[in-house]
Amino acid sequence: MEEKSIGRFSSKIGVVLAAAGGAIGLGNIWKFPYVAGESGGGAFLIVYLICVLLFGVPLVMTEFIIGRKARKSAYGAFNAISGNKRWQWLGWWCIVSAYLIMGFYFVVTGWCCNYLYEAITNAFAGLDADGLSQHFVTITSSTPRVIICCVVPIILTSAVLWFGVQKGIERLSKILLPLLFVMMILMVIRVLMIDGSGKGLRFFFQTDFSLITPKVVMVALGQCFFSLSVGIGALITYGAYMPGEQNITSSSLQVAILDTLVAVLAGVIIFPAVFAFGFDPQEGPQLVFVVLPAIFQQMSFAWLSGVLFFILLLIAALTSTISLMEVAVASLCDASGNKLNRHQSVLLATGIVLVMVVLCVLSMTEKWEWLTIAGRNLFDCFDDLVTTIMMPIGALCMSLFVGWFMPSRNIDLVPYSQKSWKAKLRPVLIFALRWIVPVTILLILLNGLGLLDALIGLFKH
Ligand code: PHE
Repeated sequence: MEEKSIGRFSSKIGVVLAAAGGAIGLGNIWKFPYVAGESGGGAFLIVYLICVLLFGVPLVMTEFIIGRKARKSAYGAFNAISGNKRWQWLGWWCIVSAYLIMGFYFVVTGWCCNYLYEAITNAFAGLDADGLSQHFVTITSSTPRVIICCVVPIILTSAVLWFGVQKGIERLSKILLPLLFVMMILMVIRVLMIDGSGKGLRFFFQTDFSLITPKVVMVALGQCFFSLSVGIGALITYGAYMPGEQNITSSSLQVAILDTLVAVLAGVIIFPAVFAFGFDPQEGPQLVFVVLPAIFQQMSFAWLSGVLFFILLLIAALTSTISLMEVAVASLCDASGNKLNRHQSVLLATGIVLVMVVLCVLSMTEKWEWLTIAGRNLFDCFDDLVTTIMMPIGALCMSLFVGWFMPSRNIDLVPYSQKSWKAKLRPVLIFALRWIVPVTILLILLNGLGLLDALIGLFKH
């Protein structure tokens, strides 16, 4: 791809908002609360925040550096920088991860579409906690309905990509993000006024250190990568569209702060409501879909709040699916040596995604039980495989790539006109990427998989 044909974001703030829009999505609002709920609340939060600081920020920087230097998709970037094909597999790794994420992400986006429709038609008005849980099961097990609801966001995503990502995304993110913040703050205020909200806040903010197990650390690491979109080349792709004079250090920090803020706000909204309305924090993937409607029933302008929130959630999900599918589309153009143009690539990627999503949805029904792996449906398998294993390994390899194999003169964090303390970060970043980030990710992975003890045992003998 030539530099000119790849397109650019028109402003620096546009890049931050687009990357933050890609990062902020269902990972923050749907996944973070239920994963935190299953992993001990406060204990999880503290590990999560450490992961964001220690790995999240350096890895966002890493992907931006690779993308801007190579001006290529995840598929072509590693070759372009290293000058040989040895790193090609990492491009494929990113592409496969992106498809696996889309497989389950579009299913949840489909649930959001359904809930938006139901918020509009006032379908869950008057349902209590049990009723809302039952409602979720009824909805998600109605296969044709879920498939139709998934097809809508898939088509919308493809439509945006058809026209090119920069214009649509930049504009959308500039309006959406501030709106999402305002809406969430209003919900925080309302939730804090509910009697008994303190219990939920204690659950979320009080750390019981005994709950921090190797598994919790591994899940927090995976969640941090998932939420910040690192490890699958999504930010490499946006880095490729970044203006040359952009300050990568500040932009990465801004993306990480915005993303983490939304996740924490989601926790502050969900947990007080969970305890006040008698839900279980370990409810799993259905958590926000049962808790949010319960909150809306308590809010003034219940109908409007519900509709508005699900619209925002849907748009937040769409900015993420766009960045996910862009990994696949840009890579298809690259991989085919531009024999496939953008439109053909969009069609092909959409076809593959449709198949993955339908398989995911079917494997969640009893009739298609044979589509499960070790008793777990494809939705859970894709989610676990990508977030706890593929993203950390992808991130680990990218960190080694920049730390060891990219000439350090190519690592421009700050434009020359802006030499400041941030410019001095380069040696620190390189050291982190060579040693701290990869070694710690590896240890966390081995420990979480229960392999570390086995290895230590092996050395003792
Ligand atoms: N970060 C997105 C979210 O939190 C999901 C995502 C992962 C998007 C990887 C792009 C790449 O919802």
